[in-house]
Amino acid sequence: MKFESVTDVKSKLEAADYICSKTVATVVFLAAETQKPILVEGPAGVGKTELSKAVAKALKRELVRLQCYEGLDEAKALYEWEYAKQLLYTQMVKDKIDDVILGATNLNEAVDKIADQEDAFFSERFIQPRPLLKAISSDKPVVLLVDEVDKSDPEFEAFLLEVLSDFQVTIPEVGTRQAKQIPFVVLTSNNYRDMSDALKRRCLHLYIDYPDVELELQIVKSRIPGIQSRLAQQMVDAIHEIRKLDLKKKPCTSETLDWAHSLISLQINELSRDIVTDTLNVICKYRSDTDLVMDNLDEVAKNAGLT
Ligand SMILES: Nc1ncnc2c1ncn2[C@@H]1O[C@H](COP(=O)(O)OP(=O)(O)O)[C@@H](O)[C@H]1O
Ligand SMILES: [Mg+2]
Repeated sequence: MKFESVTDVKSKLEAADYICSKTVATVVFLAAETQKPILVEGPAGVGKTELSKAVAKALKRELVRLQCYEGLDEAKALYEWEYAKQLLYTQMVKDKIDDVILGATNLNEAVDKIADQEDAFFSERFIQPRPLLKAISSDKPVVLLVDEVDKSDPEFEAFLLEVLSDFQVTIPEVGTRQAKQIPFVVLTSNNYRDMSDALKRRCLHLYIDYPDVELELQIVKSRIPGIQSRLAQQMVDAIHEIRKLDLKKKPCTSETLDWAHSLISLQINELSRDIVTDTLNVICKYRSDTDLVMDNLDEVAKNAGLT
């Protein structure tokens, strides 16, 4: 499965329940064409992670996810030795030790024969691949999601850059592995810290902001097919008014969807000032934000056309 054009990206992602702007579709198309990773930045909850899932679905590829966090190191991202298996193997060798040293005429020879077994300990069979190695070793091309890369340490970022530059990794005991298929790579960042220029240079950059009214309306209708048009419009208009306020945390797309689900559960099909007041805790997660919306409720209701 491949993308034929920007329009094709848009419709294939839509079929995977992801509604995107032409800008997003263009970057995805170019990334597929040039095999460059995409670095997606933007506020929380605007569909950065979801984009990679939709691309995987659209291309019918497996999604391999590396979740980043402080202290994440190469071992956790690339591969680990399977100690338990190695231990089991040690036991087996121990039982067979007489066979192994059979024919040795002195201690030196016996030790050499045992040492020959060491290679087996650090061989392919005891490697537990982690996401990066998995993505590189896969026979079929995958989508590799490096999620919240800004939470990892700068040292890890440097290592990641190396892997993304030549898609090969070296395991000292085993050798170098070159990717059989170049994965489609999506890195996401919430701008917790700035990514290095080197990483940015390596990637296509994509900033996903809060969607405009029309796009958000489409997202709501696609995710909640049964929602009444009028309610969806009122909600999205109100959300956009609320986002204009100087909030600590603006409501994001996933909160709009939560709000829609809540209103439907409450069997509400017309949004009003009072209903906004009663359900505000679904979209505002800070006391100060709730207060700010309440202080500006007249303005919000008026601009969103609520009674
Ligand atoms: N463009 C979109 N199309 C469809 N659903 C979306 C879109 N953007 C966001 N969503 C919804 O919002 C939720 C949160 O998105 P997510 O990708 O987790 O945000 P982020 O990774 O940017 O914090 C998703 O699970 C999805 O339901
Ligand atoms: Mg995310």
